[in-house]
Parts: sequence; structure tokens; C-alpha cells
Amino acid sequence: MKHSALILSENHETYSRLINILEKRFGTIEKYQSSDDLLKYTAQILPRLSPEDSGPLLLFIEYPLLAGISKHLDRYFSPTSYILVSFYTVCMLPAADCKNVSAYINTAMPEQETDFFLSRLENEIYNKTRLSMLQFEAMNFYEIGKTLSSEKDTLKLLDMIISSSLSLTSSDAGTIYLVVERENGNWSYVNNNTVSYDNRLLKFVISKNTSMDVKLETFIMPFSKNSISGYTVMSGKSLRIDDAYNIDAGLSYKHDRSFDSSTGYRTKSILSIPMKDNENNIMGVIQLINKKRFRNLSIDYSDEGALDSIITYDQNDDLIMNSLAGQAAVALKNSLLYRGMNNLLQEYKQQNNQLIALGKKILKAHEDERKRVAREIHDGPAQSVVNLALKLELCKRYIQISDYSKAAGEIDAVIGNVRSTAREIRTIIYDLKPSHLEDGLVSSLRNRLEAFSEDTEINATLETSGDDSKIEYYIASTVYNIVQEALNNIQKHALAHNVNVNLSVNESEITFIIRDDGKGFDISQPGQRKSSRLKGGFGLEGMHERVGLVQGKISIESAPGKGTSISVVIPLQ
Ligand SMILES: Nc1ncnc2c1ncn2[C@@H]1O[C@H](COP(=O)(O)OP(=O)(O)O)[C@@H](O)[C@H]1O
Ligand SMILES: [Mg+2]
Repeated sequence: MKHSALILSENHETYSRLINILEKRFGTIEKYQSSDDLLKYTAQILPRLSPEDSGPLLLFIEYPLLAGISKHLDRYFSPTSYILVSFYTVCMLPAADCKNVSAYINTAMPEQETDFFLSRLENEIYNKTRLSMLQFEAMNFYEIGKTLSSEKDTLKLLDMIISSSLSLTSSDAGTIYLVVERENGNWSYVNNNTVSYDNRLLKFVISKNTSMDVKLETFIMPFSKNSISGYTVMSGKSLRIDDAYNIDAGLSYKHDRSFDSSTGYRTKSILSIPMKDNENNIMGVIQLINKKRFRNLSIDYSDEGALDSIITYDQNDDLIMNSLAGQAAVALKNSLLYRGMNNLLQEYKQQNNQLIALGKKILKAHEDERKRVAREIHDGPAQSVVNLALKLELCKRYIQISDYSKAAGEIDAVIGNVRSTAREIRTIIYDLKPSHLEDGLVSSLRNRLEAFSEDTEINATLETSGDDSKIEYYIASTVYNIVQEALNNIQKHALAHNVNVNLSVNESEITFIIRDDGKGFDISQPGQRKSSRLKGGFGLEGMHERVGLVQGKISIESAPGKGTSISVVIPLQ
């Protein structure tokens, strides 16, 4: 560790021997002759000293000048950041006016006491360094706790946990393992009293190495007391290992050297800490590796002396890491809960949007249906009635010219037309009335197919299986409308001789297929589907939409000369 050392004396010549000894030990020492100069200097350099990487400032002050400087010390220094040594040439009383100075060494520097003096000084440096480190850690710890509890992003949180752990313990590397469920890999935890380990795995989620640039893929392993991380979770206790290559053979856990041998790393000291939340659930393990003698050291493992910079973890690391791991566990649990909640919210939003879209589609389907009915009336009965008027006009003329036989002929035609118009109107009404499905889907389809056969002279057959009594109205009406539209198309386009409708119902779904042996068409041909909008009927496109509204699936198979078959599956819940 490097030190800044200052000496204040009125006559440096007198102390050349002391300065010599000090410089040998601490390097060049800044020399001042007046308190003012010294203070001016310290005001400049102090802000640049950070307690975690430089030791305490060493102030060597000649006794008579002590009084002038001691009253300023509090202003510039925290008690842990400096060591004061007062010295004198002639024997004097100890510095009574220095009571407020927390640590100082009073020495006359006699020749034979040099070693003793230096070892006292070393001791004091060690203590102060340790103290300021603890202070730093406590402050750091508080900050870490605050940040951890506010971080909601799980990955960032894990990163923060590992970085904080490394910095709090001066570790070279570290890894976090989390408990996950065997079945789906979801985050989980274990509680020693209640959970068996069979349905849980340990997942390596993140690692950091301050000396080596390695990116490790995550992996999952079963629980076992043979691994250090597994042992930590299963025992629920932290584990301190002084040398991973020298673990007592009688212990169940061993260090896995595969990482070391593939990278040239050398794992030595290990601290493995269970992440326990406030209810003693263990959510994972923080494993720290190679405590460094000095915090900011980067270790070159190819160096022979590399292991000298690694020290063992102590009780203090254990204590501080246990508290950090506890905080981390709680923060992690919160972040995962938050994530779960967020996912739920997203799902809910998505469902809501789907419902809105569905609502719009239903509205549009209604509108389309009304347009279809309007068109059907316009093209069918309305057209026929106009024709009737023309025919009656003709009758009237025949009667005026007394051609009664021609008039009678026209009247016959009119009667025929009135009947067929009445039938058209009945069909339209029948399709419009929801009550037509009251006798059940199968009987409605049978009626519809019979009427179709009669109208078109196309042979139509119906095969059914299963129970149609529990089908809800909106599903039955979807099936009916699709069959109806298929029949319309067959009548209009197919030139078919035979139509077969096959309907089967079971607990979970309705399946139906409408097949014709007509001329078929090229389903890849675009444009064809668009035309349906103009002509009436909801067309093939409308079929897709309606099936979609009830979460069903439709597939249309056809090819020129090969007939057409439309298959639909609709789930029943
Ligand atoms: N059963 C079928 N046999 C032969 N061609 C068909 C059949 N069903 C549909 N088509 C063809 O697909 C096209 C699109 O059908 P559709 O969307 O119902 O519109 P539209 O019936 O108004 O023409 C039809 O114009 C026709 O060429
Ligand atoms: Mg059509």
C-alpha cells in the first residue's frame, strides 16, 4: 500500500537520520518548515486521497510545532485517515495539548528504538487502514441496500449484487446461482424444512471476474452436496474455504477445477453464502472467489507470485456478506414478484385489446349480415316483384285485345313466379329467425339441405355423429351460416351434382366438412375473394372471419376440376 507522508520541522538537518529511516520505509517524504505551508498543502492533496486505496496519511511533526497544527487537524481529517507522530530531540513531556488527536506516537527516536518505533507505526497503520475500510464498507453497505431495494430490473439487480459483493469483500471474482424449478426453469426457492430438492435445480446465472475477461454461458445442475454451491443451499450455512485445492478429503464437497484448467485461473479462497430472504427461504448462492490483499489489485495468474496477493476470507467478510445476501434475496424476490405482476398486466392488456378487436369484428359481422340480407331481398324477391309487375302489365294488354289464352298463359307464369317469390321470402325469413335453430343444429341443416336440393336439383346428403343438444346458439348459428354460404357458392359457381355435409360433435369440438364434386377453383388466385364483397353473401373471406370469432380453424381445399371441400373445427369449452 502506498502512503503519503509529510514531515514538519523547523530544521530538517537535525532530523536527517529520522528522515532517512522514514524515506527508506515510505518513499519520498514531503518536507515543510511552517504549519501554514503544511496546511496549505494538505488542503490540496486531501481531496485526492481515497481511503479505500491509500492508507492513512502519515504526519511527522516536531514537538514544538505540534500545538500550532493540532487544532486544525479535526478540520482536515477524519480520525481514521491520518497518523500523527510527534518527535523531539530532547526529552520533553508528552504532548498534553494534543488530547483531541486520536492516535499519535510520541517518540524521541533514540538509536536503539528504531525497530520498535517502526513496528509500532506499522501496527498503527494497519489498525487505521482496517478501521477506515470498515467505515467505508458500512457506508457502502448502506448505499447498496438502498439501491438494491429500488432496482426492479432483475438482470440489473443481479449484476449489482455481484458487483457490490466483490467490492465489499475485495474479491477477485464471484458467481450467483439461483434456485429454479426442474420442470420449467422458472425462478423458485427452497426452504430446508419443507421442500425436497428433486424438483429443483441450481442455475448459474451471472459471474464477474475482475482479473480475467471471461464470459460464461449459464448452466443448470441438480442439487448435490458434492458441489460447493449445492452444499451451501442444502446446509443453509455459509462456507469459507481457505484453499480450494486443499479441501479436507473427508468433506462431501469438492472444488470443480474445470474452469481453472481451461482458463489458467487459480481458485484459492472461497466464500459461499446462501441468499436467504426474511422467511428463511433460500433463493440462491453468492459465491466469492479469491479475496485480494488490496482492493484494486488486478491479478495476473500467469505470474508466479500471483497467489501471494490472495488472502483468506475472515469472519468480517462472512458477517457482511450474510447481511448483503439477505438484502439481495429480499430485493430479488421483490423484483421477481414485480416482473410476475408486470407480465400479468401485459397479458391482461393484450387480452383486453383482443376483446376490443373482437367486439369490432362482431359489430362488423352484424353490419355485413344486414347488407347481405338487403342484397338478397334486392336481388331476389324485389327483382321478382318488378318482373311480376311487367308480367301483369302484359296480361292487362292481352285482356284489352281479348287474347285470353295468352293472358291465361301469362297468369300461369305469374302464379309460378309468385310461388317461387314466396318461397324465396320464406327462406330469407327462415334464415333470419334465430328460432330456426331451436330444433337443433342437425335438424336445421337437414331442412336447409332438403330445400337446397329441391331448388337446385343438386343431390345433397348429410351425415352427422354426436350430440348436438348442448351446442350454444352462437356456435350453432356460425356453423349454419358457413354451411349456408358454402351452399350459396356451390349453387352459384360449382356446377356440382353432389354435395355432402359431414358434421361430428364431441365433448371438445365440432368438426364439419362441406364437399362438392363441382368444377373447383384455384384457391391461390387472389382477387377472387375480394369479389364476394360486391355480390352478396359473406364469401370465403367472411367464413374465415366467422370461424376466427369462435376461435376455430378453417381450411379450404379446391383445384380446377377437382371439386371443393371446406373443413372447419370449432372448439367447445
Ligand atoms: N364450391 C365452389 N366451387 C367452385 N368455385 C367456387 C366455390 N366456392 C367459391 N368458389 C370461387 O371462389 C370465388 C370466391 O367466392 P366468394 O368469396 O364466396 O365470393 P362470390 O361467391 O361472391 O364470388 C367465387 O367467385 C368462385 O370463383
Ligand atoms: Mg359467395
